[in-house]
Amino acid sequence: MKLKVGIVGARGLSTLKGFRAIPDVEVVALCDLDEDLLEAQARKHNIPKTYRIYEDMLEADIDAVVIGTPMQCHVPQALAALEAGKHVLSEVTAGVTIDELWWLIEWVEKYKKVYMMAENYCYIPENQLILNMVRQGLFGEVYFGEGEYLHDIKHLTVYPNGKTSWRKFWQLGKRGTFYPTHSLGPVMQWFKGERIKHIACFGTGWHTAPEFRQEDTSITMCQLESGKLIKIRVDCISERPHNMAYYSLQGTKGCYEAPRGLGDDHKIWLKGLDEDTDHARWRPLKEFYEYLPERYRNATEEQKAAGHWGGDFFIVQDFVDAIFNECDPPIDVYDACEWTAVALLSELSVMNGGKIMEMPDFRRSKKAKDQIIKL
Ligand SMILES: NC(=O)c1ccc[n+]([C@@H]2O[C@H](COP(=O)([O-])OP(=O)(O)OC[C@H]3O[C@@H](n4cnc5c(N)ncnc54)[C@H](O)[C@@H]3O)[C@@H](O)[C@H]2O)c1
Repeated sequence: MKLKVGIVGARGLSTLKGFRAIPDVEVVALCDLDEDLLEAQARKHNIPKTYRIYEDMLEADIDAVVIGTPMQCHVPQALAALEAGKHVLSEVTAGVTIDELWWLIEWVEKYKKVYMMAENYCYIPENQLILNMVRQGLFGEVYFGEGEYLHDIKHLTVYPNGKTSWRKFWQLGKRGTFYPTHSLGPVMQWFKGERIKHIACFGTGWHTAPEFRQEDTSITMCQLESGKLIKIRVDCISERPHNMAYYSLQGTKGCYEAPRGLGDDHKIWLKGLDEDTDHARWRPLKEFYEYLPERYRNATEEQKAAGHWGGDFFIVQDFVDAIFNECDPPIDVYDACEWTAVALLSELSVMNGGKIMEMPDFRRSKKAKDQIIKL
């Protein structure tokens, strides 16, 4: 059987090389409201069918859709796709309200199609390497992690043609850590099997660009059910060098820190490598590349060319494997909703002086009476 894929939103083209590197998969349709862009991209990438109207593409002979439109379109487009019997690979974040997240879960469970959130930062090779080391117990019991996304996006609130973009409202028009999944996703994979129980968010106030509702920096603490802690910082306003992929991890037997810039490197410390902890010193992560998952070590040039350090291929491969093997994808609808809800709850928290908010249990709460936001 050939799997036929349709892409909506030009951003979804980041998956194209990945799909094309997999046998039995074809990208047959592209949809975008911008007709000039649509036709130009379809020609450039040799995609046979084009649609301006998304619902028209859903009526075509396709099995799966990639949703690469603005954040506020993700859930309405995912619901329509699921109802039309299509599998969904959705850009981040999953949705923009808590109700949307419950609707999404309901529709995934009802139509029994694969839904995966395309959190590509989980697929960064170093994050996968650390995941492998966590699984093998090299860090002992992990109990603290951090993720940071520092990326000035103020200029993206206006399109080159001068029109205001969706980011003005759905990103910088909101408070809290509106874009948490790049920072949180990889760390949550290191804490696999855990669930976020509480979050609290604080902001710095408005210093650089007070015309936006988003504060310069917002920090959200996520406490897991076990009591372990994850700290995330999102700053899309401050003027400074970018760092979109800073992470750290602490366990009982070792720790890891991603680079902060200026020649800094990924580094690791493991108990037993030094005489005693008083003389503990970092080792470059490169010395531990044997822990990089095999598929990354053996990646072909074609797979590497898919982008984001080969990660853009493996994320697509996992989505396709979940469809062909009829199994859960690695970032399923419940992960997607929990990670996304951090944004939505952090907005309420920061607007209430850092109030601790309880995370709904997206996996277990099936009744409306449990699907609430506790104040
Ligand atoms: N994972 C990542 O690394 C990453 C990076 C960039 C953007 N994103 C995500 O990708 C998504 C798109 O971001 P962007 O920067 O490409 O936005 P954009 O505004 O530049 O592009 C969105 C495209 O979607 C089209 N579109 C909008 N509504 C549509 C509709 N109803 N039907 C068909 N087409 C429609 C627009 O015409 C436009 O071409 C966002 O969700 C964003 O968060 C993820």
